[in-house]
This record gives sequence, C-alpha cells and structure tokens, in this order.
Amino acid sequence: MTSFPPVSPGLDRVAILERQIDAPLERVWENVLDWEHLPWLHRKDFASIEPIEQGSWGWRARTESTARRGQYFTVELKVNRPAGQYVTRTLDGPSARTEIWTSLRSNGPNATSIRVEFWVPTTSDLSGEAIGKGYLSLYQRLWSEDEAMMIQRSQSLRSKPINKVETDSPVRIELGTLSEVRDRLPFCINFAGNTWRLCAVDDELVVHDAVCPHALGPLVDDPTDTDETGQVECPWHGFRFDMRTGRSSDGRRLRLRTPPRLIEQADSGTLALVMP
Ligand code: FES
Ligand SMILES: [Fe+2]
Repeated sequence: MTSFPPVSPGLDRVAILERQIDAPLERVWENVLDWEHLPWLHRKDFASIEPIEQGSWGWRARTESTARRGQYFTVELKVNRPAGQYVTRTLDGPSARTEIWTSLRSNGPNATSIRVEFWVPTTSDLSGEAIGKGYLSLYQRLWSEDEAMMIQRSQSLRSKPINKVETDSPVRIELGTLSEVRDRLPFCINFAGNTWRLCAVDDELVVHDAVCPHALGPLVDDPTDTDETGQVECPWHGFRFDMRTGRSSDGRRLRLRTPPRLIEQADSGTLALVMP
C-alpha cells in the first residue's frame, strides 16, 4: 500500500482485512468522517466520544472503550480522498502508536471494496498474530454495523415521501379496529412513501415519523421509547425526539416530519391513517 505519509517506522503489519461493502463509495466516505456514531452504532466497543478537532482532513477525538470503562484514548483519522485512503492512529492509551490504514475503491453503484491494514508497534510473532486476530474480528463487526447503516441510509435517500401537491385525493390506509391496533403496538407501517411508527404514550395512541431527520436513521425499536419517557432515541447518533410533538427533546432544533392523521371511522369503528 502506498501511504500518505508512509506508515510510521517501528510498526509491524499484523493483519489485513479485505471485503466488499454493499454501499456506494460516497456513503462510505460519509461514514468515515462521521465520528459521532461510534458510541451509538458501535456501542459494544465505544462507550463515549468527545471531539477535539474536525474538518475535511478528518477528525481527532477522545474516546472510551466499552469493555474497559474509564479507559480513554485519543484517536486521529486523516483522509486522503484523491488516493482513496485514510489512516486511523491511536495517539495515546494502551494501543498507542497503532496505525490502521484503509483503502477504498468503488466497485459499482452500490459496492465499495475495502482493504484494511493493521500496523502495531513491533512485538514478537506470537503476540502480533493474536493482536491481528483481535483486530480482524473487531473490524469485521464494525464494518458490518457500518454496512447495515449505509444500506439503510441509501434506501431512505431513494424513497420519496408522497405529499399533498403530488396527489389529488387524500392518501389513506386502513389499520383495523382499535383493539386490533392496540394489540399490535408498537409497530411500524410503510405508508405514503415513508415509515411511520404507532405506539402508546400515557395510553394515548401516537403516530410519529420513524425516520430520523439527522441522517435518516431508524426510529423504530429503541428500548428507551417507553410510555414513561414519551421519547424516542435514534440508534445511529443518539438524537432524541418527543414522540407526541416530533420536536427534539435533547436541545437540538430538529423536528420529525408531520405524521398522517389517525382517524376513527364512526360507522365501522375502525382506524385509518390519512395523509392530510
Ligand atoms: S440519524 Fe443521526 S441521530 Fe438519527
Ligand atoms: Fe463506524
């Protein structure tokens, strides 16, 4: 691998990971620069992150291991977009000086080939092999989690919600009787080009947008969305929303899309969603 600048001296390459990611190169670069998802999407491995500096060059942040809470380390990620490369360096902590070099290559409209090299401070062969195996298993998991996020984001970017200017009559979907609906709660429904979630907050039936306005993450089944909190938390970056009002409940100034109206038909006693 030709590097920019080259791999630091005194490091051994302990493993190489090569695989294809089923997402466009553009989504992969977006994910690489997105430090904020680490303790949410990769919560098994990262407990927290505090940014120090960021820009089109990459980012530097202080992060904490989930396996060893209270153990912080500084990570720096630098990109070289024209070369299709980036390097992640651990600047301090137990794995200080480790460098992880990644090359990206587009492999079609929805596929990106990745090659990841793991370079660690020179060790004996035996421990190098063990460290390499550890990195391979960790990075297979991290990339699989990222891939699922990127595939879902690509799908959400492609779907286009229907709104009133595009249709002459109200868009409507039947849901069944009140008790049938209550028995299914909470559940999601695809309707009018979007995913909506039905749930109960303080026994009141609520419909909310199930697509996060930050980066289109899924607001579908987070354990914090209980009757008590009335909030839903996005699993990708942890943004929180009030399910009844759709407004940010974490001080951010975002808002979920206006949901369809839930109406009860007097004659049949059944419920329907209607896009106003
Ligand atoms: S997509 Fe980022 S918080 Fe939801
Ligand atoms: Fe990631």
